[in-house]
Amino acid sequence: MELGFTIMRRYLFAAIVICVCCPLVQAHAETEPPIEQKVEQLLNKMSLAEKIGQTNLRGRSSRAKGPLPDSLKATVRAGNVGAFLNVMKPDERDELQRIAVEESRLGIPLLFGRDVIHGFKTIFPIPLGLAASWQPELAESGARVSAIEATELGVNWTFAPMMDIARDPRWGRIAESFGEDPVLTSAFSVAMVKGFQTDDLSNPTAMAATAKHLVGYGAAEGGRDYNTAMIPEGELRDVYLKPFKAAADAGVASMMTSFNELNGVPATGNKFVLTDILRGEWQYDGMVVSDWDSVIEMIAHGYAADKKQAAERAANAGLDMEMTSDTYELYLAELIKQGKVNDAQLDNLVRNILRMKFRLNLFDHPQRRKVEKSTILSAEHRQLAQQAAVQSAILLKNDGALPLTSQGKIALIGPLANAAHEQMGTWVFDGRAENNITMLDAMQQQLGKQNVLFADGLAYSRVKVQDGFAAAIEAAKRADRIVFVGGEESILSGEAHSRADISLPGAQEALIKELAKLNKPLILVVMAGRPITLGNIINDVDAVLFNFHPGTMAGPAISDLLLGKVSPSGRLPVTFPITAAQAPIYYNHKNTGRPANDKDYVPIDDIPVQAWQSSLGNDSHYLDIGFRPAYPFGYGLTYSTFDYSNLKLDKTSLNMDGKLHASATITNTGKREASEVVQLYIQDVVGDVTRPVRELKDWQKITLQPGQSQTVTFTLGTDQLAFHNISMQNVTEPGDFNLWIAPNAASGLQTSFKVIE
Ligand code: BGC
Repeated sequence: MELGFTIMRRYLFAAIVICVCCPLVQAHAETEPPIEQKVEQLLNKMSLAEKIGQTNLRGRSSRAKGPLPDSLKATVRAGNVGAFLNVMKPDERDELQRIAVEESRLGIPLLFGRDVIHGFKTIFPIPLGLAASWQPELAESGARVSAIEATELGVNWTFAPMMDIARDPRWGRIAESFGEDPVLTSAFSVAMVKGFQTDDLSNPTAMAATAKHLVGYGAAEGGRDYNTAMIPEGELRDVYLKPFKAAADAGVASMMTSFNELNGVPATGNKFVLTDILRGEWQYDGMVVSDWDSVIEMIAHGYAADKKQAAERAANAGLDMEMTSDTYELYLAELIKQGKVNDAQLDNLVRNILRMKFRLNLFDHPQRRKVEKSTILSAEHRQLAQQAAVQSAILLKNDGALPLTSQGKIALIGPLANAAHEQMGTWVFDGRAENNITMLDAMQQQLGKQNVLFADGLAYSRVKVQDGFAAAIEAAKRADRIVFVGGEESILSGEAHSRADISLPGAQEALIKELAKLNKPLILVVMAGRPITLGNIINDVDAVLFNFHPGTMAGPAISDLLLGKVSPSGRLPVTFPITAAQAPIYYNHKNTGRPANDKDYVPIDDIPVQAWQSSLGNDSHYLDIGFRPAYPFGYGLTYSTFDYSNLKLDKTSLNMDGKLHASATITNTGKREASEVVQLYIQDVVGDVTRPVRELKDWQKITLQPGQSQTVTFTLGTDQLAFHNISMQNVTEPGDFNLWIAPNAASGLQTSFKVIE
């Protein structure tokens, strides 16, 4: 936390400096016309071609060789480009910006976009890992660090945060999500927006954020990337759109449409979402960009016959800027001439783009900020990344093997133990392996080289051949304890990297089983981009510390946790299934008419041969694995234990517009200082449309000394109980509610209250 605060303090200092200079700022503000006026003045000067130019987002590969092509410079000079992505050489960016500002007719500066997802050079845990900390303030500080590093090199726009609700662990992009819960996801989304942008986009270290992907991308059928999403409107609004609304309210500069079709209409051409909801209901005035080629992909979707129709549908739906494909550039002028897109609509799109550029203060400061001394990968940034990694680790099992004592030798085995690149996780374009500290580096440094025997056993996570086993087993034989570090390589999650089998890939399970035969304490450390099913080996290991790819500082963070310098405090932001076949799986599901329960469940082996065909006793479960997940949402252990008692409500009946206070006493009943994530859930028992079995409403992460108790109090307002009813009104309905204060979504202290009219 300390570092997060240091960064925040600097931030405060900047605010004070601004305040001290307030009279100056004010005087300047008085002479400066407001942004809307500047937008209109500029728009009035623009030709049709220049307007269309602003809607073009062009790519330049970060691996592009040779000097900038003259044709590209000429396009910028002619005012035919509004933004670039992936121009990574700072001098190239400077040159393009100079041409735009000095040599194009109207001097409109360019946006330089980049996927700065979970760090720029200093890599933080993947977003799913950040969410496991249940500390949005860590995500905010991390995003601040990313913005400071990226703006130093001239990136002024990030395509993050991704706020897609993810209920399917097969989906590769679950890694980039904050998990399955809309309230948790909203909190992390807003935190990241604030971290990237600060409170004022014109701040030189502010980087415009992008809420993506609008909307429903995470609901891809079967967890297969890009697949169809069918989402009823109520659920769309209550679950999938919720984080976007929160981000819009927090002032996110832009949004990105998604690749998927939503209820039959591709998101990129979806007027209902882009215009009716976003501009109409939410009054959002930021900019909306497509995803990579998602405008022309409407042809493959079967929603546009050709590029021209794709442009027409996207423009009329309200898509401001087109990423990489060129349908606007080729056809907007003609569409306007033919009256298929009207001038006023084009003006609307361009207004949104110009407004964002003015908000970023690019007209006054188009070039990257000057720094006296680079802070990229500074000790402070790395320490913050380490802290985030520590807080994100989830202890799933511990039979007492953890924490490790420092005596004796440790065998460090497995494909992720010394894999500097793989520990960063998906969608990292600027982080480099050589800046990272692996578990091998960190453990040898902490315990001495002679005490940490290393043999990976498997060169990378997917390897099936077992010729490295002998050396690994040999190392394990010479040690007192074995730490197996496995999981997934970075490339096994993220975009287009869905998996049908989400167990440990390759021969990892086989190697773990061999190691287990040695009868020594065996600790499994996982680094992965999604939930992993561990059922095949869970009984072979004594402890499991699960990490969603932790980033640059994975080594020191995990070593500190294994050695007990700090107790694990991460909690699952997604449900872990027993098998991928349970997906989609999420805690806030509906009850069904035949809710699963232990009393009625008949396991497959107990069914008599030639049993009479009957559905009695058969509830909503699987014959072979029952109805529970492997680990519920919100779950996580630590090196201590906590007791929940004394659940109290200050009232049991609540007026509309009222508030209630719910409290419980949490006691650290173990022997170590540890943190607990105390979670507040409710259930609306009867609704105009059925409600989930539980819904997270709030949480607090607290740290207690051994024996210490704390009363945790939550304030719950009736507005938090609202949902979209059958007529799509957002309402809180009177009636009975259950309430839990709980350590996870499958347990806790329960009581009830009423909402009365
Ligand atoms: C991804 C986006 C990303 C864009 C630009 C697309 O493939 O879906 O999330 O921002 O590429 O790199």
